[in-house]
Amino acid sequence: EKGGYDTFMEKEIHEQPQAVNDTLLGRTNEVGALELDELRISEEQLRAVDRITIVACGTAAYAGMVAKYAIEHWTRIPVEVSLAHEFRYCDPIVDDRTLVVSISQSGETMDTLMAVKHARELGALTISVCNTHGSTIPRESDAVLYTHAGPEVAVASTKAFLAQITACYVLGLYLAQLKGQSYAQDAKAVMAQLQQVPDRITELLGDLDRVREIARFMADTRSVLFLGRHVGFPVALEGALKLKELAYIHAEGFAAGELKHGPIALIEPGQPVFIVVPGPDTPHGLHGKVVSNIQEIRARGARTLVIAEDGDDAVVPFADEVIRVPRTAPLLQPLLTVVPLQVFALELATAKGLDVDQPRNLAKSVTVE
Ligand code: F6R
Repeated sequence: EKGGYDTFMEKEIHEQPQAVNDTLLGRTNEVGALELDELRISEEQLRAVDRITIVACGTAAYAGMVAKYAIEHWTRIPVEVSLAHEFRYCDPIVDDRTLVVSISQSGETMDTLMAVKHARELGALTISVCNTHGSTIPRESDAVLYTHAGPEVAVASTKAFLAQITACYVLGLYLAQLKGQSYAQDAKAVMAQLQQVPDRITELLGDLDRVREIARFMADTRSVLFLGRHVGFPVALEGALKLKELAYIHAEGFAAGELKHGPIALIEPGQPVFIVVPGPDTPHGLHGKVVSNIQEIRARGARTLVIAEDGDDAVVPFADEVIRVPRTAPLLQPLLTVVPLQVFALELATAKGLDVDQPRNLAKSVTVE
């Protein structure tokens, strides 16, 4: 049942190309336009949406944070990401022009379900991005966009995360298309780039021996930090979460720009820090800014574990280790950069002799508030 792998988590990490591919399948027509027939909300209603709130927990919320950058960029509709357990108690600003998108692998997370019910009571349109057919959250929502990751057995989420980002991107591009030509220009090109991603993940999965080695050498590490900017920021948060869950190591993710506002005080000689580096062509000179951040922490003795695209040589002088990922469009990069972080956590936990499929104190679906 583990298909030749030692653990479900390892198997599910290797199913990620398929998860992305299957989530894209059947969502474009012959001319490459998006067609979400399964969405039971009228185009008129969707065109009227002037605000989007994403509600989710844990890894699913990080997928939502990634999606926020992309959906706002493509649609110019403001997107807020709210942890589902906070949403209900913060007197949320929601009306019938608000689209509330819930993201949940299991479809049974009580916090997320209650947020969706609350949103409906307030008159919002609700769409569930969900991986489990027939589960509760899709039933309680106006519409559902399924992620086709297949069953996820390991407690720590991996392939569902990639599928959630993919589905949210499809939704964002669809909303852009509904808004008309000036917004939709990018949609076809982005879909074409997305369709290339599964092959890039497969390449990457074949090339992670060094990450595994680094992880095994770090079995005694007590704390690891993760930095990223823009879409790399939620990837840093997800990398830290995977390490906490699986290896029981203190880990924290930061927006790299926050460093000098406090966290840089944590840097002491030998402190391992992962840095997710945006591609060299990322707008607003983001790449250079992250390279400066690496330089700053290296100067203070950090051990820099740098995740950078193939051919990005600017990082080399400041990196103790460079972990390469294939090149892709800036907004699609999380679908690749998170993979070495998943493998790192898996391998380190394995080196510590821990049960990676069933970490202590955790359950696959959290059905209590
Ligand atoms: C992390 C993890 C949890 C879930 C969270 C939401 O590896 O598994 O953080 O992502 O509990 O679960 P779902 O997506 O089922 O609502």
